[in-house]
Amino acid sequence: MPARRAVPAIRLGVNVDHVATIRQARGTPYPDPVEAARLALAAGAASITVHLREDRRHIQDRDVAALVAHDRGIVNLEMAVSEEMLRLASSWKPACVCLVPEKREELTTEGGLDVAGQLDAVRAACARLARAGSRVALFIDADPRQLKAAKLSGAPHLEIHTGRYAEARGRAQAAELKRIAAFARAARKAGFEVHAGHGLTLDNVAPIARIADIVELNIGHAIVARALTVGLPAAVAEMRRAMHEARRT
Ligand code: PXP
Repeated sequence: MPARRAVPAIRLGVNVDHVATIRQARGTPYPDPVEAARLALAAGAASITVHLREDRRHIQDRDVAALVAHDRGIVNLEMAVSEEMLRLASSWKPACVCLVPEKREELTTEGGLDVAGQLDAVRAACARLARAGSRVALFIDADPRQLKAAKLSGAPHLEIHTGRYAEARGRAQAAELKRIAAFARAARKAGFEVHAGHGLTLDNVAPIARIADIVELNIGHAIVARALTVGLPAAVAEMRRAMHEARRT
């Protein structure tokens, strides 16, 4: 019988943006995303994602600084490719940076980064962040044109945008899943470490977690929302369990 390729473990990165959303709604000092990060890590999260948006609608500069001071090794900073963000990230030096597109009016990140359309800027950003000691992921749609551009960018990681998969139903969702799996395979073969995220929930995470070429999922809204009823440690633990059970089957 041919030997089966060992399936690598899958990590959960917890996005705590929406802990800060609740704080910013009232301008109170609570709840604290750094405290949430500590709880998530204790419950088994491998890393903490924060998106510092240009409009500072949730995470603030002081949150990123405090997280990095707590442990720079666990911080995954999502940010736009802008001079302001590159300057801040180069001073904070988080372990990981995920480059995302950003529109002021959007409710959340609406699609992947157009690497092909701004390759020079993305390549320069990757080089600058690497010099600061951060590993860079590009958040992209499962689109071969973007993979081709990403190969020229110098980024070591890719995060596949799963938003369209999360919103689709039935056959359309099955088609999205197939597209993501084929893209993850091609990206891993091209030498990237492959992550995925956006819109993942307890109900839709298993088919994505089962894709052996993906080694990290970044999940925020569903975990923070679930934490309101079961508590953050339990919400993190049950998401990890769902991912690991999917991986085993
Ligand atoms: N990954 C990226 C690049 C994102 O922009 C987001 C949303 O901030 C996430 C993952 C997490 O998405 P969600 O909050 O829908 O789980």
